Amino acid sequence: MIQQPNPNPQDADIEEPLPQQEEFWRPPARFGSVPVEAEPQGWDRYRGFQKHYPRVDLPTQIVERVSLGSDEAHEPNRLIWGDNLHVMRQLRSNSVDLIYIDPPFFSGRQYNVMWGDANEMRSFNDIWEDGMPGYLIWLNARLYEMKRLLKPTGSIYVHCDWHASHYIKVEMDKIFGYESFRNEVIWHYGLGGSSPRLYSKKHDALFFYTKSQTYYFDKPQEHATSVRMRGQLKGASDVWDIPTINNMAKERIGYPTQKPEALLERIIGASSNEGDVVADFFLGGGTAAAVAQRLGRRFIGCDQSRVAVAVTAERLKQQAIKRELEDASIPDFTVEHWGIYEAASLSGAPSDEFRGFVLRAYGATPASDGSAIHGWRNQMPVWVGGPGRDSRVTAEDVEGFANAIRESVQYLDSNLRDGVMLAWGFTQAARDAADYLRRCQHVDVDFIRLRQVRIEEAGFREHIVTRSTDRADYSDFLTFVQPPAVSVAYSVKGGRAVTFDAGDSAVVNFRAGDSAVVNFRAKIVNVQWDFNHDGRRFAATPGYSFRRDGPMLQVTHKFDRAGTFTVACRVQDSHGGEGTWVGQVEVS
Ligand SMILES: C[S@@+](CC[C@H](N)C(=O)[O-])C[C@H]1O[C@@H](n2cnc3c(N)ncnc32)[C@H](O)[C@@H]1O
Repeated sequence: MIQQPNPNPQDADIEEPLPQQEEFWRPPARFGSVPVEAEPQGWDRYRGFQKHYPRVDLPTQIVERVSLGSDEAHEPNRLIWGDNLHVMRQLRSNSVDLIYIDPPFFSGRQYNVMWGDANEMRSFNDIWEDGMPGYLIWLNARLYEMKRLLKPTGSIYVHCDWHASHYIKVEMDKIFGYESFRNEVIWHYGLGGSSPRLYSKKHDALFFYTKSQTYYFDKPQEHATSVRMRGQLKGASDVWDIPTINNMAKERIGYPTQKPEALLERIIGASSNEGDVVADFFLGGGTAAAVAQRLGRRFIGCDQSRVAVAVTAERLKQQAIKRELEDASIPDFTVEHWGIYEAASLSGAPSDEFRGFVLRAYGATPASDGSAIHGWRNQMPVWVGGPGRDSRVTAEDVEGFANAIRESVQYLDSNLRDGVMLAWGFTQAARDAADYLRRCQHVDVDFIRLRQVRIEEAGFREHIVTRSTDRADYSDFLTFVQPPAVSVAYSVKGGRAVTFDAGDSAVVNFRAGDSAVVNFRAKIVNVQWDFNHDGRRFAATPGYSFRRDGPMLQVTHKFDRAGTFTVACRVQDSHGGEGTWVGQVEVS
């Protein structure tokens, strides 16, 4: 366009004031600086994401195998309690077909926190500390592991919203590749507030990426809504109209950020086949696991809230019971711990299982020669005591281990002198025997220096602490929790005996208020009741499971027939301890 001469030259000196422009938008303080690097936020050239999050190799502990009817040989599905980054680092590469995640949204609100369980709270403190870059580093380290876990034909859906979606997209392009992006699915829902000064926010975004260009996809169908094509099936678009679950919905379990099963049905139906492995590492109330179970997929679920894992376990059991799915085709599932362990159930484990666990936790590899050297950490022989909490190492154990060291090839070749004994406890005689062996150093070539480390003391977990000195969130790793001591009393109104009159019902008040936590500074966060316990598998009576407003320490239950009922009460504390009371109630 040609510039026209000014028709009023006398106006040439009058300058139009510039619009006010000195105020640029500034990100809120919690954003920090906006990310621009070519590598994912948090990536270190030499140490990858281990610079921010050092690797910790620890075993998982199976605390329960929930029987749904499949035989023992059938591989169970898995629910794992632990920080997902560390849990994922223990899982095999190329082993998962589909990952769905619904992480905290960088909304700055702690509304995801439901039970105030100490571990559930931790991620929020972590994430917000360094603003948006901190959040992206936290998420990237996890996305990086997810890519490793996906099979070459696998897919991932990351559920987020406007708070961070645009930043997450940039990071996912870096990690998975811009060309591996398939869709930004818009989940459009009805509920939510509105404001007169902006458009109502009624959607979340789901980023769908695949690991490679060859992937499984069974496009869902939906009915056309246009007048011309009404009723015809069309391939689904990337905008999904699915209502959020309201408070009355049957599937509602009360989890504040619970997603509708219809959403997960679409994702799991489109991007996996029957028998495929589906994983959700931000499990929450377990929507993805429940849908995967219903659609005949195998699954791995993980959450760092012990209560979220318990909610999901309960949901899977109830679904199996309701749908009468108790046949061999439904795999059992295990509830597993990573990083924080149940001392009581370790004590009851068979010796070789216990020994394997302790060696792995200590960073040692098991020895296979059957001698009194049970394992090796670097060049150091390791010995492990018995599983029972009360078992104590004796002087004979010390002698036996010292002799095994003397007889080992390494001893002769390299003047090996040191060894470590790991156990719940040591007798004074064992301490003295080790002392004696060490003191011979001045007079005897056969001397041996033995360290004796109790499994619950700091020396047992020193290899974790030295690797992660600056990370407060590692301080709980390799610690043990004790179950709360559950105590239940019951009565009927007026203190009468529990009686049942024909045509009436017996109302019984149960109280678990005298239950006591054993873990330091823990508090009870959840109580569940099973009024018809089958003696095998705890399954809460509907309505007696999880409540947001506090644990159900006192409840009333109506028995509508006479008989002897086995009642069970399960209590969880904020540190992950879980204890169960089982008793008989006579209703006559
Ligand atoms: C938004 S909720 C998931 C809700 C779920 N999709 C549902 O339908 O119920 C996010 C969950 O991620 C868990 N979480 C947060 N950080 C975690 C971490 N580092 N490892 C494992 N779980 C984590 C929280 O405890 C919370 O239960």
